[in-house]
Amino acid sequence: MGTPMPQPPCPEVLQFLATRRSASAQTLAAPGPTSDEVDVLTRLATRVPDHGKLTPWRLIVLETAPKAAFAAKLEALALERGDTKAVVKLGKLKAPPLGVAVIARPRQSDIPEWEQLLSAAAVCTNLLYGAIAMGYGANWITDWYAYDPDALAILGLEDGERVAGYIFMGTSATPPLERVRPDANSLVSRWEG
Ligand SMILES: Cc1cc2nc3c(=O)[nH]c(=O)nc-3n(C[C@H](O)[C@H](O)[C@H](O)COP(=O)(O)O)c2cc1C
Repeated sequence: MGTPMPQPPCPEVLQFLATRRSASAQTLAAPGPTSDEVDVLTRLATRVPDHGKLTPWRLIVLETAPKAAFAAKLEALALERGDTKAVVKLGKLKAPPLGVAVIARPRQSDIPEWEQLLSAAAVCTNLLYGAIAMGYGANWITDWYAYDPDALAILGLEDGERVAGYIFMGTSATPPLERVRPDANSLVSRWEG
């Protein structure tokens, strides 16, 4: 079934995984990925494990001008509520030139919803890693506008859909600093029965 897909070792990918790092969303500026690059990134992002082939996700691209309009609507909402903290948090949405919202849309299926949400998270990870591999800075953001029902209505979500993450992309003036990493050995055990 399907075309043979040779899977040669890929040391460059291992090196990438060992060093890749998210950038602070607030520091991301133009240029961001071009329209053609977004096409590549979204195609690669949707090449993820998906139990039952349900495609339980979709993507909404937020290009610069529409993203600014989205941010303005969210800001009006926050101001109407007198929520200054929410206004400040919009900085991470406003600064980057491009965002992609990954929307989880679990299907009625024998496949547990949990697994469908995990697949949506895999889309987020692929998109984040793809953007970084392409040479951009990127960050996976949720914040209040990933959960607030009024914000989700502005984004155009349908019943049962959820934001798995906004992946913001752009260019950082300085490389991100490494952060504290867990000691993998302390997290890994070997089952011995
Ligand atoms: C599900 C999820 C939601 C996140 N939401 C936010 C957020 O709302 N605001 C934020 O600043 N960072 C958010 N982050 C990003 C992380 O806080 C941080 O940038 C990331 O863990 C850095 O990972 P890295 O150094 O391995 O690239 C989120 C990450 C994940 C996985």
